[in-house]
Amino acid sequence: MTEHRPVKDTDATPVKATPTLPDAQTVTEVTHYTDRLFSFRCTRPASLRFRSGEFVMIGLMGDPHPETGKVKPLLRAYSIASPSWDEELEFYSIKVPDGPLTSKLQHIKSGDEIILRPKPVGTLVHDALLPGKRIWFFATGTGFAPFASLLREPQTYEDYDEIIITHTCREVGELTYGRDLIAALKDDELLNEVIGEGFWKKIKYYPTTTREESQKMGRITDLMRSGAAFDDLGVPPLNPEMDRAMICGNLAFNLELKDMLEAYGLVEGANSNPQHYVVEKAFLD
Ligand SMILES: Cc1cc2nc3c(=O)[nH]c(=O)nc-3n(C[C@H](O)[C@H](O)[C@H](O)COP(=O)(O)OP(=O)(O)OC[C@H]3O[C@@H](n4cnc5c(N)ncnc54)[C@H](O)[C@@H]3O)c2cc1C
Ligand SMILES: NC(=O)c1ccc[n+]([C@@H]2O[C@H](COP(=O)([O-])OP(=O)(O)OC[C@H]3O[C@@H](n4cnc5c(N)ncnc54)[C@H](OP(=O)(O)O)[C@@H]3O)[C@@H](O)[C@H]2O)c1
Repeated sequence: MTEHRPVKDTDATPVKATPTLPDAQTVTEVTHYTDRLFSFRCTRPASLRFRSGEFVMIGLMGDPHPETGKVKPLLRAYSIASPSWDEELEFYSIKVPDGPLTSKLQHIKSGDEIILRPKPVGTLVHDALLPGKRIWFFATGTGFAPFASLLREPQTYEDYDEIIITHTCREVGELTYGRDLIAALKDDELLNEVIGEGFWKKIKYYPTTTREESQKMGRITDLMRSGAAFDDLGVPPLNPEMDRAMICGNLAFNLELKDMLEAYGLVEGANSNPQHYVVEKAFLD
């Protein structure tokens, strides 16, 4: 098993500032987890209100047009990984080597500016679910990001007796951001005070890997089908009376899990029609 330690950018000077725009925000911290994953924090516009689990468009200025020399913002959808009450915003990001945005975004440092369009939207919100006893957060890869927000949201613990977070990644190092975040909840003085001492005991964390050896191997979908996930977690298979679920991963994962939840009798909800589960893509295609 590979040992991965997050590398924090603590003493960095800005390399290249984006031209200041009305929607510019300043990066305050960057942490690298693997050669494919990093997180960063930035200032939050005073007027930005959002519900934990929603996403916004963020980006950088693109390269000048070869003929006109004009520069345009290069924006992509990003889940806000911080909770709605946080003074700053946090994002958890992939680094796609030739990706138009992330080939640049992966080089940001404290003090740099990013563009943030302050129009949060999304379906992974508590408002889209009917009351229940247990909530399941199902993530693959960077699909963990909205749950990083919801796991730090007091309403999650007010609404549910039990919170199960499953995270399936190819490699062990890809679990670090989520694992560290969940471990830190235990010692979070503010959350223990606001939600109640020991709130974190409601969480059952179920990380699995598919291409590198770890304590639990396999896709969550397969582990549910075989019953192993339910045995390991000590809970029965999902049912519409007790269980609520949110799904965020690649398209094939979302579709497969959606079919499984429907087979358990759960119905898909939306902001306008709260039901038993909701889905959002972690990335297009
Ligand atoms: C609703 C929504 C929320 C999103 N939230 C996040 C988020 O919180 N964090 C995040 O990193 N990305 C997120 N994305 C994806 C994000 O919008 C961009 O696609 C990503 O930042 C890469 O941008 P790019 O311009 O470098 O490459 P793009 O041209 O956008 O993508 C190039 C290729 O890289 C792969 N890819 C893109 N994003 C990912 C990813 N996250 N994980 C694995 N492979 C990927 C895909 O195969 C894609 O075709 C979200 C997408 C959607 C639709
Ligand atoms: N992660 C890497 O190390 C890596 C390296 C280079 C390039 N890439 C490229 O980056 C892109 C995204 O890779 P990613 O690893 O972030 O995301 P991903 O391919 O979506 O895989 C993330 C996790 O989801 C699992 N998964 C995929 N489909 C599933 C389904 N239908 N049901 C249940 N689980 C499912 C995968 O298991 P399986 O392993 O069984 O598919 C993996 O553990 C891909 O195009 C990939 O080629 C990734």
